[in-house]
Amino acid sequence: MNFHILTLFPDMVMQGLGTSIIGRAVNNGLLSIEAVNIRDYAFNKHQSVDDYPYGGGAGMLMQAEPVYQAYEAIAEKVKKKPRVVYLSPQGATFSQTMAELAKEEELVLLCGHYEGIDERVLEEIVTDYVSIGDYVLTGGELPAMVMVDAISRLIPGVLHNDVSAEFESFQDDLLEYPQYSRPEEWHGKKVPPILLSGHHANIEKWRREQSIIRTKERRPDLLEKCMKSGVLDKKEMKFLQELLAKDEENA
Ligand code: ADE
Repeated sequence: MNFHILTLFPDMVMQGLGTSIIGRAVNNGLLSIEAVNIRDYAFNKHQSVDDYPYGGGAGMLMQAEPVYQAYEAIAEKVKKKPRVVYLSPQGATFSQTMAELAKEEELVLLCGHYEGIDERVLEEIVTDYVSIGDYVLTGGELPAMVMVDAISRLIPGVLHNDVSAEFESFQDDLLEYPQYSRPEEWHGKKVPPILLSGHHANIEKWRREQSIIRTKERRPDLLEKCMKSGVLDKKEMKFLQELLAKDEENA
């Protein structure tokens, strides 16, 4: 998979994505990340890429032409019209399901700055509008990095242990169960004995139950979803109903 990030701050994204697991995946050839500097496509001698908005208002806008030329350079290189995500608080909220974009061969992420980008070029090139949450950041670079990270870890081989991508928080709309490592006792807190039992089926059952408890406490909205979607088997539904009944009693 090849990411192409259209940005005014290429160093920021390349530094942020060049280390740790994503950096290693790039070095291993599992994915590529290029940052395309929109300023390289400025069409005036001052290399400026922004101007005042028509109609007045605060701040500056990124102009259409440099963004378009930078996009065209990518489209020419990959020999097709790639999917283009514009990172904006006005987009659909990014989620684990959207990370399925990992199936795309080429993905362009367009980062805005200042007060945004001239609408006309967005109309021409953008295929998806994505936000990473209901807050406003100074630019699209951090959201683009969030997307690259979340998408890349789903690419086979990026996590050394592929099973861990499957069994984590949000798989099945359940949060991940609590985990423990050595020592067996820390600050007077013992590791739950079942985890030391060696009984794999019981451990699995305990973990699923912990996931249900945790999701109920921390993300009741997700629990509603998984009650409807059928990801809980009969015994797990019963376990959940008993928990909810206990909550009722204590209310
Ligand atoms: N650009 C500025 N804020 C953003 C957000 N919350 N998500 C995506 N892009 C943004």
